Amino acid sequence: MFYEPKKKNHGLPKNPFNSLIVPRPIGWISSVDTAGVCNLAPYSFFNAVSYQPPTVMFSAGAGAGDDRLKDSARNIEATGEFVCNLATWDTRDAMNLSSISAGPEVDEIALAGLTPLPSQLVKAPRIQQAPVHLECRYIKTVDIPGWTEADNYKVIFGEVIGIHIDDAVLTDEGLVDIRKMGIISRLGYNDYARVDGESVFSMERPG
Ligand SMILES: Cc1cc2nc3c(=O)[nH]c(=O)nc-3n(C[C@H](O)[C@H](O)[C@H](O)COP(=O)(O)O)c2cc1C
Repeated sequence: MFYEPKKKNHGLPKNPFNSLIVPRPIGWISSVDTAGVCNLAPYSFFNAVSYQPPTVMFSAGAGAGDDRLKDSARNIEATGEFVCNLATWDTRDAMNLSSISAGPEVDEIALAGLTPLPSQLVKAPRIQQAPVHLECRYIKTVDIPGWTEADNYKVIFGEVIGIHIDDAVLTDEGLVDIRKMGIISRLGYNDYARVDGESVFSMERPG
């Protein structure tokens, strides 16, 4: 089959795009607003984009408020900081709950029964239940124009200035033990995948 996204002529019951670009890592973004209210939300339009300096991005669609910003985007643009927590099998329900469409006054960390930890370099808290936290300094936003105003996306870039790794997910040799982390990723529709011992394989790169 072939279709042109703008013509929406795929003829399928659901838009297949999100089911093709998979698996997507989940950036579980914590931030704080200028009044100090914490916010937490998962973003699967998320990835690392460079090594030095380590840089991550996530892409936020339009929010429901007058400024049409999701809380994460508004907070980060206002404060210049955020934390990216890694979502795992153990935190899957809390991660899902934190995606609730709630007003900026709602602290989804508390709502999801999670424990905030102070960060070292930024005001946004880390999530204790996550094995890895990336403390990030906001770099810039790139606007992705949509077909309508409701389709606009804001791609937020941040430099990772501090990294916390739970020692329990390091091997004796000092490698990150992906099998122990229980990382989950986003697939299409309502599907997710878990990275475990069965799904990992290694390959040497050609010289
Ligand atoms: C696994 C998962 C991934 C998501 N990825 C995105 C995303 O990449 N971009 C987006 O705008 N919303 C995404 N959402 C929806 C947001 O989490 C949701 O709109 C949330 O309420 C935004 O919160 P905020 O306004 O506090 O930032 C995702 C939801 C889930 C459950």
